[in-house]
Amino acid sequence: MPNETEVVAEETVANSEETLTVTDNRTGKSYELPIVDDTIRAMDLRQIKVREEDFGMMAFDPAFTNTAACRSSITYIDGEAGILEHRGIPIEQLCEHSTFLEVAYLLVYGELPTRPQLEDWTFDITTHTFVHEDIKQFLKGFRYDAHPMGMLLATVGALSTFYPGSKNTGDQIERYLATIRLLAKVPTLAAFSYRHNMGLPYVYPDNDLSYSENFLSMLFKMTEVKYEPDPRLARALDVLFILHADHEQNCSTSAVRDVGSSDVDPYSAVAAGVAALYGPLHGGANEAVLKMLRRIGSVEEIPAFLESVKNREEKLMGFGHRVYKNYDPRAKIIKSHADGVFEATEYNPLVEIATELEKRALDDEFFTSRKLYPNVDFYSGIIYEALKIPPEMFTVIFAIPRTAGWLAQWMEMSDDPDKKISRPRQIYCGRRNEDYVPLGEREGPDTIEGPPATRPS
Ligand code: SDX
Repeated sequence: MPNETEVVAEETVANSEETLTVTDNRTGKSYELPIVDDTIRAMDLRQIKVREEDFGMMAFDPAFTNTAACRSSITYIDGEAGILEHRGIPIEQLCEHSTFLEVAYLLVYGELPTRPQLEDWTFDITTHTFVHEDIKQFLKGFRYDAHPMGMLLATVGALSTFYPGSKNTGDQIERYLATIRLLAKVPTLAAFSYRHNMGLPYVYPDNDLSYSENFLSMLFKMTEVKYEPDPRLARALDVLFILHADHEQNCSTSAVRDVGSSDVDPYSAVAAGVAALYGPLHGGANEAVLKMLRRIGSVEEIPAFLESVKNREEKLMGFGHRVYKNYDPRAKIIKSHADGVFEATEYNPLVEIATELEKRALDDEFFTSRKLYPNVDFYSGIIYEALKIPPEMFTVIFAIPRTAGWLAQWMEMSDDPDKKISRPRQIYCGRRNEDYVPLGEREGPDTIEGPPATRPS
């Protein structure tokens, strides 16, 4: 077959070096695919066919391990170097100098706010922290021991029914209202879920307090007239909020973008993010870390536990990351703040187990050869525990700041000129051209595998 080279790209290829030449050995044909930002467009593969009537070639990438789904200017991560920046500003500087609400503004609008902007932003969020009284009816329907992430998932989705105007996703006023309402109300819904679990009355927001102080008040205020937050703990929580605010195209953010691409309202898109974050491989890992440390029980039990991990009986929760193949920079910052929190609270033996576990794992070739290092979840749970927050609430606390990242990514997706409803392809590997078999002529086992035998015999 002649080795014809066929320039197939729609746009004129500005510089022939910026192309990928691929040869289909089935036909001997070569194709030049444009390279932009060190990527090729998957659609440029579709010209590669054996027969003219073929559908054309696709890329196969389950879990999107090597597929860019969008262009974004919100968060930059360098997994090898352990770098995390929001709108170009290193996470270390934001944790040292900024506050969560200021970082939320930076994520959403792309610039640090001026003083008047920050004052208005803070006022608008502070004065939207109440939820409609009817929301309490939803929470009443949950069992006392319902997982708070399940309650948050339900109530965030329910918010969409209280603000039908948010369906106008292109309306700037509606977008702003949904942004401040979600940033303001998610902590309230989170705290209400906790109080429901504890059988305690709800504590309404206190507008005299800062964002993180108010959250602590809604969690822990009892009979005192006014909750007095410990400033060290409130600051540690605010830094944790900054560290969890956004993390480029992680599982839950991808869910928000995916669901949001159908032009659904932002409350429903954010509810999809809550659902994805709930998973133990994602946001649920911090809760799983605490349970893992409790299961290990003592420093002496660490070698046996690590053996079970190597035998694939367990995962070392709080370790490993799809992007960071070095220490997660957030884990370093959390660890540096942990000591301050532990000074302000009573000693927690799990800290000793966690520190020794990390040391042993980082000395072990099984983990270092797989580039498994502590991620954001390894130490955060211990701090939350020191703040007397129960493990079931850890992922809920992750969801609070991540709401800012989800909203920023949702807005960027909504305005992206490449925006289309998300609809991946598949490689079909099932049967074809089967005929229907009447019930009386079917052969096979008499029972369905798996379900408990609860049917009458
Ligand atoms: C978050 O994406 C984000 O940015 C997420 C996040 C965010 O801010 O949004 O950073 C938040 O989700 C942090 C991650 C929290 N999850 C956990 O801590 C759960 C434990 N970690 C793993 O489940 C795992 O590391 C993942 C899910 C985080 C990443 O998995 P990958 O990238 O798919 O890696 P992999 O499963 O392909 O693992 C590569 C190898 C495998 O071994 P081999 O089969 O090649 O021999 O490493 C092993 C895995 O078995 N491995 C682990 C492990 N993580 C990976 N082995 C033991 N313990 C682990 N924790």
